[in-house]
Amino acid sequence: MPKPKVFVTRKINPSAIEKLQSIADAEIWPNENPPPKEILLEKFAATQAVLTMLTDSVDHEVINRAPSNFKIISQMAVGTDNIDVTSATKRKIPIGHTPDVLTESCADFTWALITAIARRVSESHQEVRQGIWLPWGPDVLLGADLFGATLGIIGLGRIGLAVARRALGFNMKVLYFSKTRKPDLETKYNLQYRSMEELLSISDFVSLHVNLNQSTHHLINTDTIKFMKKSAYLINIARGKIIDPKALTQAIHNKQIAGAALDVFDPEPIQQNHPLLSCPNVIITPHIASASIPVRKKMAEMAVENILFALQNNPIPYCVNPIVYQ
Ligand code: DGY
Repeated sequence: MPKPKVFVTRKINPSAIEKLQSIADAEIWPNENPPPKEILLEKFAATQAVLTMLTDSVDHEVINRAPSNFKIISQMAVGTDNIDVTSATKRKIPIGHTPDVLTESCADFTWALITAIARRVSESHQEVRQGIWLPWGPDVLLGADLFGATLGIIGLGRIGLAVARRALGFNMKVLYFSKTRKPDLETKYNLQYRSMEELLSISDFVSLHVNLNQSTHHLINTDTIKFMKKSAYLINIARGKIIDPKALTQAIHNKQIAGAALDVFDPEPIQQNHPLLSCPNVIITPHIASASIPVRKKMAEMAVENILFALQNNPIPYCVNPIVYQ
């Protein structure tokens, strides 16, 4: 029997590919850029499984090209907002993802951004690179303190909580806003629940950890950003579309907030001439919060594991839409 055909939309860890090749005929997209739509349409029509990245737009049209024996869309990420989950579910196609494994690396990176924006690390480094090393001075490159400050976490899921746990080491007051209140976690980690408005108006650092969906699209906009303190910083490692980029640009321009540190943006990549890129109080990194060597290897392995289960007609272990098995 010929091996089932699988399309992988980017080069991934070789050990994961090797595992995949043991039971499938896997084709790997060789470029750094995502495959264009026509390639996705073609590959979905001609394979039984596709391993996707968050930069692949797997919309209704793409999903509907999948043949009736199509087994899985396996995303190498925890977020699946690039996939039309409703269309896949209607077609009883399971969607795999890679939760948990990237939680700690994303929380670590959130703290890299918080520390860097508060203490002007990127700005200082740029100056030194440009040959500007001002003599030590009482007013040179002053920033904000983390120790004892107030951190507001919007979205207390896995990553939000991992960020909160780390805040205890900085003796911070930790506030959170979430769809559902979590009394056990409040007690265990000394967290305080606040409405979003309250959280925005009290926090020194506001860190976003919600999934992107209709209710979180532009959650931070002209109206909500107004609640933030002038001395506060906005951090986003979740998804770019959670912040209205125009509202943020205006807030930075008008000094409504002290700064922002963003690992995600809308669109990605950011336009080279975007005004935020010339603001010293804005740090932008290219969506790398989960990018540690061991984590990316594990993510690839999990995405492949999901495919192996699906190709053997078993329910997949890390499933976004388990309802397809009912
Ligand atoms: C995810 O998995 O959704 C992250 O954004 C990847 O870095």
